Amino acid sequence: MLNHLKAQPADKILQLMQAFRVDPREDKIDLGVGVYKDADGHTPIMRAIKAAEQQLWNVEDTKVYTSLAGDPAFHEVMIELLLADSAPRDRIAACATPGGTGAVRQAFDLVKLANPNARVFVSNPTWPNHLSILEHIGLEIVPYRYFEPESGAVDFDGMIADLGQARPGDVVLLHGCCHNPTGANLTLPDWQAVVDILNSTGAVPIIDIAYQGFGDGLEDDAVGTRLVASACPQVMIAASCSKNFGIYRERTGITLVICETAEQRNVAQANLAHLNRQGYSFPPDHGARLVTMVLGDAALRTDWQAELDDVRRNMLSLRKQLSGELQRLTNSNRFGFLAQHRGMFSRLGLSTTMIDSLREKNGIYMVGDSRINIAGLNVNTVPVVARAIAETLE
Ligand code: LMR
Repeated sequence: MLNHLKAQPADKILQLMQAFRVDPREDKIDLGVGVYKDADGHTPIMRAIKAAEQQLWNVEDTKVYTSLAGDPAFHEVMIELLLADSAPRDRIAACATPGGTGAVRQAFDLVKLANPNARVFVSNPTWPNHLSILEHIGLEIVPYRYFEPESGAVDFDGMIADLGQARPGDVVLLHGCCHNPTGANLTLPDWQAVVDILNSTGAVPIIDIAYQGFGDGLEDDAVGTRLVASACPQVMIAASCSKNFGIYRERTGITLVICETAEQRNVAQANLAHLNRQGYSFPPDHGARLVTMVLGDAALRTDWQAELDDVRRNMLSLRKQLSGELQRLTNSNRFGFLAQHRGMFSRLGLSTTMIDSLREKNGIYMVGDSRINIAGLNVNTVPVVARAIAETLE
């Protein structure tokens, strides 16, 4: 039987992560996988998370199962963090998942249960794993225009024209903030226009929000999601705590489903629990518990927000530095978009030959579509990277 298995295509981001790990060069620079790194290239455990872990060690007296949809207290703090009061609580179903990827998978699986013929509109480009999961579960993918490579801006007219092709029963996948891989984001008026097109076509939005707090701040990064939540009758949200709480390996995420009625919400809630049972039964709890403790304790929450703000400001300053350095070296504003973009990623618009040369010659690793992780830079490596990029352009 096993001889019928076919090799699977490697995940480009994870393959690059592995190639970086085995590269023996000491001066190599990892701008690949989306993981935050401090100036020493280390991914620290956030102070509030560490403090919560210490408290948990003292107070936790059982490891018995939580509920099939995860700990209800985790649902409450995450609903408040993501949605504030933008949607009535009795219409929101919630389910803890293993990371943001698990939350995305859960939302797509729910779509498949509700309408196996749904077409899923995805931005071109999008996070490659969106496409891979959709192909895996057999939902039809329809790309919509999103990005103008020359200017590094959102192709908003193209996006709206393409989303206008959606029909009732279709789904539109949106990035809540910090678009991955481009870094180009919607403005609030853009979000309003997206809401209008969703409501006129009857398509249901799924918002993937994996970087809340990494763009313009916790509140500003949620405005689009909250607008959609308040204005569309049915909304799905897949959120990750990997990045903003720095708990990557704890696999902590949540799927929220906003329904039209409380009755519909109860059915959706049972479906989410059912999906968990089919996949892995109870979702992991450790990370979710830490998040619940941090968000539920005023002092821990204040400290977490302060550290997250430092992380965000650091990325913004690296963006400005890299953009300025490239402007100086190339005598052009070709990379000016780097300072405008938000979040961990930007797409540089380099060719495959240039990307390969940067990796082989300079030990600079970026994803094959020229996406760089801004948080992989530091004040010392910005000039090195800028010089190497400028040289490949010559
Ligand atoms: C990324 O895009 O690099 C992150 O979301 C990590 C991942 O799982 O791909």
